[in-house]
Amino acid sequence: MTVPFLDLAAQQAEIADEVLPVWRQQFATAGFIGGPEVDAFEREYAEYIGVAHVIGVSNGTDALELAYRAAGVGAGDEVIMPANTFIATAEAASRIGAVPVFVDVDDEYLLMDPGAVEAAITARTRAIVPVHLFGQTAPIDVIGPIADKHGLALIEDAAQAQGAASHTGRAGALGRIAATSFYPGKNLGAAGDAGAVMTDDPDAATLIRNLAAHGSSVKYVHDHIGMNARLDAVQATVLRAKLRRLDGWNAARRAAAVRYGELLAGIEGVCTPTVRPGNEDVWHLYVIRVADRARVMAELGAAGIGVGIHYPTIVPLTEAYRSLGYRAGQFRVAEAAAGSILSLPMFPHLTEAQQEVVATAVAAAIPAIVGG
Ligand SMILES: Cc1ncc(COP(=O)(O)O)c(C=O)c1O
Repeated sequence: MTVPFLDLAAQQAEIADEVLPVWRQQFATAGFIGGPEVDAFEREYAEYIGVAHVIGVSNGTDALELAYRAAGVGAGDEVIMPANTFIATAEAASRIGAVPVFVDVDDEYLLMDPGAVEAAITARTRAIVPVHLFGQTAPIDVIGPIADKHGLALIEDAAQAQGAASHTGRAGALGRIAATSFYPGKNLGAAGDAGAVMTDDPDAATLIRNLAAHGSSVKYVHDHIGMNARLDAVQATVLRAKLRRLDGWNAARRAAAVRYGELLAGIEGVCTPTVRPGNEDVWHLYVIRVADRARVMAELGAAGIGVGIHYPTIVPLTEAYRSLGYRAGQFRVAEAAAGSILSLPMFPHLTEAQQEVVATAVAAAIPAIVGG
């Protein structure tokens, strides 16, 4: 039996009967951008997250840029973020002339290290961006007060955490403004690119909506140099259908994570992921750490098991960010993790039988390492 890294076919099949008739109508009426489906999704997602405003947008990277701009981040401002995130967290800052400042993560959960955040604050810091990596919230309970103390905006990158919660609330409702991605493989995924910005601040919400539509609230009246970052109606229809199932699918991911924990528990040399106390993890990714990853990957690949690395190179050491002058050795934990992390198949419809195949293959690969 082969096991794909991600299989969305079952998700699509579950929602097809709800989505296709609406798509047919959108196609017939050419109601493609904005409209009632987008409005309804924004309302439903706002209620789900527990925020006053959701602005549906084109993708997660644009959502981050809009969140940064609405928080007042501009050219030359520093934005503190973890070194091990998807590059979009940094790209969105660079696109508006701000400077990403990368910090290390903790060794247990691989989430932004609050001590490193505090040490990175300068007179030019404007915002702190905790990333809710792999499906669990960053330590906002510690980072939030640091942001408050220094008068900085707390902007969540909630792209990997739809439905995740800490003891104080849902991911997306924990900072001043939050951005998320509905890339198809996310826990709440569209049928293409999509994203959203979330906030309780009505002024920020108005500005974000304006910026996302060419800096315009009234047609051909342009208050700002904005962008074209609107959410399509066809995506909103898919997102509405999937949102109704999100809690169930996240529960299935949670059950799969528990099962992986049991199946992998006895295997020496495999470090399984843990959940920070107070967090409700939605297991966007199930990330283990192993010593000789290249070899484990090769063995799993040969066994027909799909795996991933999130991410093989930390953002400050990518070619794209070479000009910032970071050097290997500056991010002890994130760099070590980048060399050993391995994402196993994880999706709501993953079966017990598939997980057993994965665990058996992992166990078979490890003695090969131990034995040399
Ligand atoms: C942590 C993180 N931030 C931002 C993004 C960017 O989202 P998008 O691909 O929708 O632009 C992603 C997803 O790809 C992500 O995982």
